[in-house]
Amino acid sequence: MATPAIDVQNLTKSYGTVLAVDNISFQVQPGELVGFLGPNGAGKSTSMRILTTWQPASSGYARLAGFDVMYESMEVRQRIGYLPENVPVYPEMRVREYLTYRAKLKGVERHGRTARIDYCLEKCRIKEVQNRLLATLSKGYRQRVGLADAMLAKPPILILDEPTSGLDPVQINETLNTIKELGGQHTVLLSTHILGEVEKVCERVIIINKGRIKFDETMKGIAAREPSHVIEVRGPNAAVTRFLQDQQELTSVVAKSTDGDLTTFELKTKDPNKDLREELAKRVLAHGWGVRRLDLRRVSLDDLFDAVVKQSDISVPVPAVPPPVEPSPTPAA
Ligand SMILES: Nc1ncnc2c1ncn2[C@@H]1O[C@H](COP(=O)(O)OP(=O)(O)O)[C@@H](O)[C@H]1O
Ligand SMILES: [Mg+2]
Repeated sequence: MATPAIDVQNLTKSYGTVLAVDNISFQVQPGELVGFLGPNGAGKSTSMRILTTWQPASSGYARLAGFDVMYESMEVRQRIGYLPENVPVYPEMRVREYLTYRAKLKGVERHGRTARIDYCLEKCRIKEVQNRLLATLSKGYRQRVGLADAMLAKPPILILDEPTSGLDPVQINETLNTIKELGGQHTVLLSTHILGEVEKVCERVIIINKGRIKFDETMKGIAAREPSHVIEVRGPNAAVTRFLQDQQELTSVVAKSTDGDLTTFELKTKDPNKDLREELAKRVLAHGWGVRRLDLRRVSLDDLFDAVVKQSDISVPVPAVPPPVEPSPTPAA
């Protein structure tokens, strides 16, 4: 199998008593576009700072393009583009001048440098501000300068920390489209706390909360999850619950909410492809109870995120990770 673009094993980071990243493990394969999703304070930026060699882990290790972030940090830096949470820019520099400086620093060859800068200015839609002082740019423009900077040297791996923060809705869409295009040529790990962004561009989502990975699945996998029946019944709660539990075709009955004698249940069926709506409605009505709603519903990323973040009752898988491999003890020359 190809070397993973990103290989994280049992990574932990604490700041004093705050456990910001708590024993996380995951891998990203070359060419994947992965969303790193989590609420504020989940540990996204801390993880990304470790992956990009800007901060040491407390324990565990990470390899990017096969190189250890701790022992081979220069090798790692040559292969990544990083858009940090707060883009560090030099206020007295002009956009084009800054990118030229960064391109030189990153060893972008003289031949083709101008063309590459033009390409990045174009892609990140900042050509019109190329001669503006960085100090005068809005947060949205600064963010896009940061993205242009990250992609300048055509690194195989892009680590983008909230690339759309500070942008207006139109800019968000443009930036997401740019990232989607980049996904074809680079491995991309992008963090966000906005679900819709992941749904729009990512092929896979890793959800992190309170420093821990709670969920890791492809968007295809999520779409292929079994649908559930959702039924809202008016009737004595206990009797309705018992009745539903007695239905042979059902494997699980979970009351999601109750309002007086009105209860919403989520039901799982033995045969996930069977649509039981009409049959169930008939049986419930035969008891003299009312059916206010009856849907066949697919699990959405929204449901999963809620379940993970609020720890409610939808089960979410965390895939098994391979056993840890000893990191290379030899520092890079
Ligand atoms: N430099 C730091 N010193 C102390 N605590 C920190 C520092 N950076 C982050 N934290 C804490 O670590 C946790 C994770 O933060 P962070 O990685 O920034 O989360 P996210 O990017 O997901 O919002 C938070 O509780 C935050 O307060
Ligand atoms: Mg952050």
